[in-house]
Amino acid sequence: MSAFIVYLNGKYVPDYEAVISVFDRGYLFGDSAYDTTRTFKHTPFKLESHVSRLFNSLKYISIELGLSQEDVMQITLDVIRRNRRLLNTDEDYWVTQRVSRGRQRPGQSSLDCREHTLIVYIEPLPFISYAHLYAQGARLITPSVRRTPPECISPRAKLGNKLNHILAQIEAKRIDPGCFMPLMLDTRGFISETDAANLFVVSHGRLVTPHRHTVLEGISRDTVIELAGSLEIPCSEGDLTLYDLYMAEEAFITATSYCVLPVTSVNGRLVGAGVPGPITASVLQAWSKLTGVDIAAQATRNAKEADTVSRNSGIRGGSR
Ligand SMILES: Cc1ncc(COP(=O)(O)O)c(C=O)c1O
Repeated sequence: MSAFIVYLNGKYVPDYEAVISVFDRGYLFGDSAYDTTRTFKHTPFKLESHVSRLFNSLKYISIELGLSQEDVMQITLDVIRRNRRLLNTDEDYWVTQRVSRGRQRPGQSSLDCREHTLIVYIEPLPFISYAHLYAQGARLITPSVRRTPPECISPRAKLGNKLNHILAQIEAKRIDPGCFMPLMLDTRGFISETDAANLFVVSHGRLVTPHRHTVLEGISRDTVIELAGSLEIPCSEGDLTLYDLYMAEEAFITATSYCVLPVTSVNGRLVGAGVPGPITASVLQAWSKLTGVDIAAQATRNAKEADTVSRNSGIRGGSR
């Protein structure tokens, strides 16, 4: 199998040569920030917004990369171009930029570490892990682990240290191995977000999503807010409780890979009628129109193909 090309600190190298020091603070402490966009028809979606959020995350953790946002955008486009030959026409990529504070020399303080590491790489989208959920809807579980409060580390920065999310995910999967994600509450008891997605509820025909100061301001969340405007669906931010979710007509989660996925059950209780709702469908349809890709159909086709390949090779793919 051909190697993917990875950008690592000024060089484009095959993935097996993209290695960093064991003393890198990203590895030692999760001292890093990152961002991820996806492609549609092999072209990155909202790349400028993702790179701008990356630079905000870096500013928040006091890392000066020494490259401009335009440089990072250009490197990202180069990485996609160099890997395009490995994609089928109907496939698309995740493309990620990761910056760590870099190598820790003995006795150095955090601010003295200036040999920052920048990696830009692609991964094929894992359609098989979520394609079936467009029709079935996702199950979420609320774990006891709360989302890190803004007083400790701002949830608005997209940081490499994901242990808060990982512990939430482990707990949720232990409670319901078939659940898609943990839905985390904040320390006040209001709904914040999942380990890797934002949440919207539909209540009395209006969309409501948790306030931006308690969540990562997802680029997909922004896209839904824009699409809701063009669809003339009222949309606002608010403090949401589990009560609001249990009473909601519909709910959905948003993230870069799948864009919009219906949520049909939370903590074993059906949301609305327990099936994907019409407002969720209209937002997803508007997004498909915006990109010229039928998002659910593309995922379903690719998941079917991946399933056939894994059956033929005797390996079961994906985590359902
Ligand atoms: C904690 C968290 N919330 C929300 C999101 C969704 O953000 P986006 O729509 O920019 O992918 C992510 C994405 O990884 C995330 O990690």
